[in-house]
Amino acid sequence: MNALIDAKDLFEADPGFLNTASYGLPPRAASQALDTALAQWRRGSTDWSTWDAATDRARAGFARLLDTTPDHVTISSTGAQLVSSIATALPPGARVLVPDIEFTSNLFPWAQAATVETAPPERLADAIHPGLDAVAFSLVQSATGQVAALTDIITAARAHDLLVVTDASQAAGWLPFTTDGLDAVVCSAYKWLMAPRGAAFAYTSPRLRERMRPLAANWYGTPGHAGYYGLPMTLSPDAAAFDLSPAWFCYVGAAPALDLINELGVPAIHAHNLALANRFRAGLGQPPGDSAIVTTPGADAAKLQAAGVRAAVRAGNLRASFHLYNTTDDVDRALEALA
Ligand SMILES: Cc1ncc(COP(=O)(O)O)c(C=O)c1O
Repeated sequence: MNALIDAKDLFEADPGFLNTASYGLPPRAASQALDTALAQWRRGSTDWSTWDAATDRARAGFARLLDTTPDHVTISSTGAQLVSSIATALPPGARVLVPDIEFTSNLFPWAQAATVETAPPERLADAIHPGLDAVAFSLVQSATGQVAALTDIITAARAHDLLVVTDASQAAGWLPFTTDGLDAVVCSAYKWLMAPRGAAFAYTSPRLRERMRPLAANWYGTPGHAGYYGLPMTLSPDAAAFDLSPAWFCYVGAAPALDLINELGVPAIHAHNLALANRFRAGLGQPPGDSAIVTTPGADAAKLQAAGVRAAVRAGNLRASFHLYNTTDDVDRALEALA
């Protein structure tokens, strides 16, 4: 248990919140920055460039998290919007392989643009075959917490020159990984990145961007965000060409949260989250696992609720998820309630 980070004072979390897979809680620095921005908005005491600076900081923070550079990062508001934008890279008649239990934000956009084939997540690498154009999968599955066999999938995809797109909404912020071998990493930031709902990021590879169309082209995607009026449409030469204009306050909250994650380091957060998740698994009689999300068939979610523990039910299973602000007390409270 010495892997645990003592982060309690950095948050205002009430005990028993085991639901980061639904939404993450902000570090105090993020909620304070948001309070300041709301006061500025109420009074009209600043122009928006103050809030926009947080967007630049958040973009840089996401790039650092993935060991890449900000010019490869697009900002948006939802994961599905980013996947839809990425799906414009597909040729007519394309075929895309997706896990059969995939969260729909990384499934429906593909179904709009291509013929989708599905396979169980644990069989995804084996299901890759010639004739596919892309493989798209969650790095950590929302329904089960399963961690994708990233190396195997990338190896199989590269053998057939497929685009490799991962949705890291349930992974970025606790699971160590980089962009190596990936064409896109999409992330809705309101879970493990602890941002307000409405900030989302995507890393895209240059070879992918060459094929993408700017589906929602707008003023913010122009150099210096200065393309306010009229033609010509000159978009940024990098991943910012695919930006949505930012929901300012979401990024005001996202920037300090990303700073904290980068400061503590994903390997340390990974160790913390797994230590708690595995304490929970042990208490349930399960073997140790590799995910910060634990699912339990047959557990009585009502008992947890009665004990003030907030978790979720997904695909009929109890889903408990463990992040920075959780402690062994949270785990033990949940185990006692289920006993
Ligand atoms: C894997 C995954 N992707 C994306 C999202 C959210 O997507 P969006 O930002 O499109 O609402 C979720 C939310 O549960 C998710 O689990």
